[in-house]
Amino acid sequence: MRSSRTLSWVMKKKAMSKIPSSEITPEHIYLSRRAFMRGVGALAAGSLLLGACAATEPTTDVPDDLQVSADTDELGDTLTSYAAITNYNNYYEFSTDKEAVARFARDFRTSPWEVAVGGLVRHPQTFDVSDLQRRFGSEERIYRLRCVEGWSMVIPWVGFPLAALLQEVEPEASAQYVRMETIYDPQQMPGQNNQWYNWPYIEGLRLDEAMHDLTLLATGIYGKALTPQNGAPVRLVVPWKYGFKSIKSIVRIDLVETMPTSLWMLAAPHEYGFYANVNPDVPHPRWSQSTERRIGESGRRPTLPFNGYAEQVAELYTGMDLKQFF
Ligand code: MTE
Repeated sequence: MRSSRTLSWVMKKKAMSKIPSSEITPEHIYLSRRAFMRGVGALAAGSLLLGACAATEPTTDVPDDLQVSADTDELGDTLTSYAAITNYNNYYEFSTDKEAVARFARDFRTSPWEVAVGGLVRHPQTFDVSDLQRRFGSEERIYRLRCVEGWSMVIPWVGFPLAALLQEVEPEASAQYVRMETIYDPQQMPGQNNQWYNWPYIEGLRLDEAMHDLTLLATGIYGKALTPQNGAPVRLVVPWKYGFKSIKSIVRIDLVETMPTSLWMLAAPHEYGFYANVNPDVPHPRWSQSTERRIGESGRRPTLPFNGYAEQVAELYTGMDLKQFF
């Protein structure tokens, strides 16, 4: 069912990126973005928004400088509270206990920080993270995040499209995939001493997935800088894929010819594939994916194909058997 609401996910441009949006964005999305931007002026900056948080969820002091342009996503789903987003995390480098990650990550050094972009590109470059906003702009994107474990959140990210950065380095014609790597620093990240996994954390996308306008490099949440537990200073967000694709604390991005092998593909190849598109019809070998628990709500809700972004991304997979390419 097509409606203007489903096309206009909420976003707020804070600065112009170097590449006009019209060049990297399908026209209908570009137009709805412009329509939204006209409305942004009416919104009070710095509006405080806190979703209801179930009693069992972690609570913490909530900063009073949260900024967000809307209280729901484009489907009308309520934003998850800042407290829940920053205190219920998957970040195995720090802990496998979601509610302990924030504590273990508290003193993680996120500055200075560089991201090296290379491989099959014409202009390999190393970017200082403090420079990313000036070079690529900054906008708000409210996205649903669906973890493969069966829980989900609605998060107001701040960031810029990965496509903007990739266009800057100019992928060569032979580049087919993008491979991304998290920092390797076992002294700061106790989980990297766990020999069970092949560190550092690696993830990858097909080049057309990486160039899709929905694919974001995020540097903030609720208008504030990312916290260490959420992947500071810069992480990927691919909203139509399971959360494990959205790699945190990135230090390397390489354009490559062959499909990268991710940490999860090595750890459990029968459970975690390269594509990892949210799909209620393809169960995980150990549990169903047909429903999910939205953090802050009771009960479960149906999981949507491509996490509700089918209209924007399904065409990337035309002709592919998504049960085989899971
Ligand atoms: N990135 C790294 N480097 N290490 C991780 O353990 N966990 C992934 C993903 N990115 C992970 C990671 C998983 S399983 C999920 S669901 C999301 O981060 C969770 O992001 P959040 O904690 O910001 O909600």
